Amino acid sequence: MKLKNLTSVVTGGASGIGKAICVHFAEEGAHVVILDRNGDQAENLAGRLRGEGHSAEAHACDVSDYAQVQSVYASLKQPVDIQVNNAGVSHIGNLEQTSGEDLDRVYRVNVKGVYNCSRAVIGQMVKRRKGVILNMASVASHTGIPERFAYSMSKGAVLTMTLSIAADYIDHNIRCNCIAPARVHTPFVDDYLSKNYPGKEQEMYDKLAATQPIGRMGEPEEVARLAGYLCSEEASFITGTSFPIDGGFLNIKK
Ligand SMILES: NC(=O)c1ccc[n+]([C@@H]2O[C@H](COP(=O)([O-])OP(=O)(O)OC[C@H]3O[C@@H](n4cnc5c(N)ncnc54)[C@H](O)[C@@H]3O)[C@@H](O)[C@H]2O)c1
Repeated sequence: MKLKNLTSVVTGGASGIGKAICVHFAEEGAHVVILDRNGDQAENLAGRLRGEGHSAEAHACDVSDYAQVQSVYASLKQPVDIQVNNAGVSHIGNLEQTSGEDLDRVYRVNVKGVYNCSRAVIGQMVKRRKGVILNMASVASHTGIPERFAYSMSKGAVLTMTLSIAADYIDHNIRCNCIAPARVHTPFVDDYLSKNYPGKEQEMYDKLAATQPIGRMGEPEEVARLAGYLCSEEASFITGTSFPIDGGFLNIKK
C-alpha cells in the first residue's frame, strides 16, 4: 500500500495508460479522482473501483478548459496529494501536413491541459508544503520521430514544464517528474491503426511493435507501476527527471 490515504487526480483516467494508473493507485490505497472528457467512461471505472472496495470518484472535465478544471478542483472534498497529468491527444503529420488548427488542438490538450491542472492544484500544494506532480511525456520529448510535428512540439513542452515546475517548487517540498513512454498498447494506438490503416491493422501493429528493440509494445500496467513508484515516498529523492519506459527505443540500436 504505497499510496495509502493519498488523494490522487489522474487526467485522462478513463482509458489506456490513465486507466491503468487509476487501477494501480487504487490498489495501492489511494483515493483516486478520475478526470476525463469522457464522463461516462470515467464514471464506469470509478464505479468498478468502488465495487472492488477501493475509493474513487469521477468527474467529466475537459482539461483544456480552465473554467471547467477550476470548478472540478473546487468541488473536491480532500486536498490533492498527487496530480497525474496524463490526458493527451495525438496528431500524425510533418510540418507541411500540420495545419494551424491541428497545432492548436494538440497544444490545447497536451500543453495547456497540463498547465491548467497544475495551476489549479499548485496553490494548495504550496500551502500544505506537500505534493507530487507527474506528467505524461513521450519518447518524442527526447528524440525526433517522423511525422509527429505537433505531437513532438507538445511533448517537448511537457518535458520542459516538468523541469520548470520541479525547479520552482523544490523548496516547497513538491516533486515533479515525467514519464516518457515509447509505444504502449492502448486505444490511442488502436484508434490510430483503424483510422490510418483500415484492413491492415495487424500488419501495422506488428510493424509498430517491432520499432521497440525489445520487440513489443509496452503494457499500460507497466507504465502504471512506474507512475506508482514515482508518486510514492519511495521516490522521495527524485525530482526534475524524465523516465523513459521504452523497451530500449531511445538508447539501443539493433
Ligand atoms: N499509447 C502510447 O503509445 C503513448 C506513448 C507515449 C505517450 N503517451 C501519452 O500517454 C497519455 C495517455 O495515452 P493513452 O495511450 O492512454 O491514450 P488513450 O486515448 O487511451 O486515453 C487518453 C484519455 O485522455 C482523455 N482525454 C483526451 N483529451 C482530453 C481532454 N481534453 N480532457 C480530458 N480528458 C481528455 C480521453 O478521453 C482518454 O480517456 C497521453 O498523454 C499520450 O500522449 C502514449
